[in-house]
Amino acid sequence: MTVIAIDGPAGSGKSTLAKHLARVLGFVFLDTGAMYRALALAAHRAGIAPDDEPRLTELAQHIEIRFTIDGDEQRVLLGEEDVSEAIRTPEISDLASRISVYSGVRRAMVALQRALAAQSEGVVAEGRDTTTVVFPEATLKIYLDASPQERARRRQHQLQQQGIEVPYEQLLQQILERDTRDASRPDSPLRIAPDAVVVQNDGWTKEQTFEYVLKLCRERLGEKV
Ligand code: DC
Repeated sequence: MTVIAIDGPAGSGKSTLAKHLARVLGFVFLDTGAMYRALALAAHRAGIAPDDEPRLTELAQHIEIRFTIDGDEQRVLLGEEDVSEAIRTPEISDLASRISVYSGVRRAMVALQRALAAQSEGVVAEGRDTTTVVFPEATLKIYLDASPQERARRRQHQLQQQGIEVPYEQLLQQILERDTRDASRPDSPLRIAPDAVVVQNDGWTKEQTFEYVLKLCRERLGEKV
């Protein structure tokens, strides 16, 4: 099994990169964030309180989450139900971030992530603990980074495209706060694995980041890709 693990702070472009790489390499995209979101959706539907750690852990131990390919798109299944859209609401985003702090929940999700990966020849795993906790033996580890200022500018641009104006300073503040929270949480804080390749992509386009990382993959994986 070949695993490319992609880690890094919020807003660095991990998801876009991972999705694109998986498609080009013909690997499965293991979107660990989507898995925490699917768990949050299941908890919400079951009426489990966000602070009920024992019941959340129990749910995580028994949940059935899978990925399938539909045409050119990967979908997330909870049991037999396609929840790809339902997990993207602000309410579920917030719940996912709250329930993903519990160690029992994380242990169960990590086990599920490894089991899903074991069914595939090649996986691109994306998420903030994929290089450090989930796949410490990954074939290639990428830590995708960009300065808080660059990430705030990108976020502002994204929002503008949706017709939403938010002051730059406010977005920068949010990013700095989220970075501090992510780096200081007790279980699986965001940190750079010692054997990760740090890709600092300030001023790069998505395409430049992709081309650069694809080259790293080809160098590391050789004839496998
Ligand atoms: O990347 P995302 O926004 O889809 O992630 C959803 C939530 O799950 C987010 O609050 C971070 C959390 N998460 C996590 O704790 N560990 C991961 N490996 C992936 C996501």
